[in-house]
Amino acid sequence: MRDPSHDSPARDGDSRKRNGNRRRLVVVSAVVAATAVAISCATVNRTVMAPPNIPGAQFVGSETCSQCHEPITRDFKTATHMRLKAPGDNAKNAGCESCHGPGSIHNESGGARNTIINPRKSPETCFQCHLDKRGEFSLPHHHPVLEGKVSCGDCHNPHKGPMVKSGGTSLFSENETCGQCHTVQFGPFVYEHEALREGCTTCHQPHGTVNQRMLISRNQSLCLKCHFQQQLIPGRITIGGQDHTSLLTRGTCWSAGCHEAIHGSQVGSSMRF
Ligand code: HEC
Ligand code: HEC
Ligand code: HEC
Ligand code: HEC
Ligand code: HEC
Ligand code: HEC
Ligand code: HEC
Repeated sequence: MRDPSHDSPARDGDSRKRNGNRRRLVVVSAVVAATAVAISCATVNRTVMAPPNIPGAQFVGSETCSQCHEPITRDFKTATHMRLKAPGDNAKNAGCESCHGPGSIHNESGGARNTIINPRKSPETCFQCHLDKRGEFSLPHHHPVLEGKVSCGDCHNPHKGPMVKSGGTSLFSENETCGQCHTVQFGPFVYEHEALREGCTTCHQPHGTVNQRMLISRNQSLCLKCHFQQQLIPGRITIGGQDHTSLLTRGTCWSAGCHEAIHGSQVGSSMRF
C-alpha cells in the first residue's frame, strides 16, 4: 500500500506553496482551453502538462460523471489518478477529466458521440503527462502501442486500484495481465522456472528496450543476477553446479541447445526444451 503522506504535495491541499509554478502551467493551457485549468500533477520526476482539451468545454468534476457511469465512478475511489486535482479556488477533483478532457458538453448532451475523449483509441492523452513513455515505445523492441495494436489500458486499469500491479502479493496479477495475450509463457509448466514468481518484468521491460524480445539485458547478466558464476577450479566456470566453461562461449544462456524453454518446461528441470 502507498503511504499517502509520501505522495507529492502538489496533488493536494498544501499545493498552494507551489502556486508560482502552477501559474505558468495555467498560462500555457489557457492558450488552448477556454477555462484555464491545469492539473496539479507536477511530481518529482515528471514535468506536467494540461489535461486534454475539448474546444468550448469546461471541467465539471468526477462527481458529475457518476449519474451515468456509476460503476466506474464508484471504483475510481481506489484509482491512482483519483488524486489528481485542478488547482485554484474553484478547484474540482479533475480525476476523470484528466484523461477524458473537460466534460461539460458531454454531460449536457447526455453523452452524445464525439463529445469526450476515449484514450483507448490513442495513447496521446497519456503522453501529455507521461512524456517519457513515447520514447520508451519508440525503442527498437517495443509493444506496438504507437502502431495502435496494443493500448495502455490493456496492461493498466485506469479506473480501479493501482495503475501498476507489481510488488508484494499482486505479482500474480502482473503475470496474469501478460498471460491474457501470452498464454504460452504464462504456463502452467510441469517444471516451472522459479524466476517467473518474481514477475515477467524481472527479465522484460514491457514498454520497450533496445534488446531483442524486450529483455532488460542482452547477455548472460540477465541470468547471473540470480544464478551465481563460481570458479571452484581455477580457469573453470561453474553455474548451478555444472561446468559451463565452454558453454558460455556459444552464445546467450537461452541460445539454441541451451535453456530454450526459459519460462518453464514440460520435459525437464534444466529447461532445455
Ligand atoms: C447524462 C449522462 C452522462 C453523463 C453525465 C456522462 N456521460 Fe459519458 N457517456 C454517456 C453515454 C450515453 C455514453 C455513450 C455510451 C455508449 O455509447 O455505450 C457515454 C460515453 C462515454 C465515454 C466513451 C466515449 C467513446 O467515444 O467511446 C466516455 C469516455 C465517457 N462517457 C466519459 C464520461 C465522463 C468522464 C463523464 C464526466 C465528466 C461523463 N462521461 C458523464 C452519458 C453520460
Ligand atoms: C488514467 C486515465 C483515465 C482516467 C483518470 C479515467 N479514465 Fe476512463 N478510460 C481511460 C481509458 C484508457 C479508457 C479505455 C479503456 C480501455 O482501453 O479499455 C477509458 C474508458 C472509459 C469509458 C468508456 C467505456 C469503456 O469501458 O471503455 C468510460 C465511460 C470512462 N472511461 C469513464 C470514466 C470515468 C467516469 C472516470 C472517472 C470516474 C474515468 N473514466 C477516469 C482512461 C481514464
Ligand atoms: C493529467 C496528467 C495525467 C494523465 C493525462 C495521465 N496520467 Fe498517469 N499519472 C499522472 C500522475 C501525476 C501520476 C502519479 C505519479 C506518482 O504517483 O508519482 C500518474 C501515475 C500513473 C501510473 C502509476 C505510476 C506509478 O509509479 O505508480 C501509471 C501506470 C499511469 N499514470 C499511466 C497512465 C496512463 C496509461 C494514462 C492514459 C490512459 C495516464 N497515466 C494519463 C498524471 C497523468
Ligand atoms: C504490455 C503491457 C504494458 C503496456 C501496453 C503499457 N504498460 Fe506501462 N507498465 C507496464 C508494467 C508491467 C509496468 C511496471 C514495470 C515494473 O514494475 O518494472 C509499467 C509501468 C508504467 C509506469 C510506472 C513506471 C514508469 O515506468 O514510469 C507508467 C507511468 C506507465 N507504465 C505508463 C504507461 C503508458 C502511458 C502506456 C501507454 C502509452 C503504458 N504504460 C503501456 C506494462 C505496460
Ligand atoms: C493486449 C495483449 C498483450 C498484453 C496484455 C501483453 N502483450 Fe506482449 N505482445 C503483444 C503483441 C501484440 C506483441 C507483438 C507481437 C509481434 O510483434 O509479433 C507482443 C510482444 C511481446 C514480446 C516480444 C516478442 C517478440 O517476439 O519480440 C514480449 C517479450 C512480450 N510481449 C512480453 C509481455 C509482457 C511481459 C507483458 C506483461 C507486462 C505483455 N507482453 C503483455 C500483446 C500483448
Ligand atoms: C528469467 C527471465 C524471464 C522471465 C521471468 C520471463 N521471460 Fe519471457 N523471455 C525470456 C528470454 C530469455 C526470452 C528470449 C527467448 C528466445 O529468444 O528464444 C523470452 C521471450 C519471451 C517472449 C517471446 C517468445 C518468442 O517465442 O519469441 C515472450 C512473449 C515472453 N518472453 C513473455 C514473457 C511473459 C509473459 C513472462 C511472465 C509470465 C515472461 N516472459 C517472463 C526471459 C524471461
Ligand atoms: C529472479 C531470479 C532469476 C533469474 C533472473 C533467472 N533465474 Fe533461473 N532460477 C531461479 C530460481 C529461484 C530457480 C530455482 C532454484 C535453482 O534451481 O537455483 C531457477 C532455476 C533455473 C534452472 C533450473 C536448474 C535445475 O536444473 O533445477 C535453470 C536451468 C535456470 N534457472 C536458468 C536460468 C537462465 C538461463 C536465466 C536467464 C535467462 C535465469 N535462469 C534467470 C531464479 C532466476
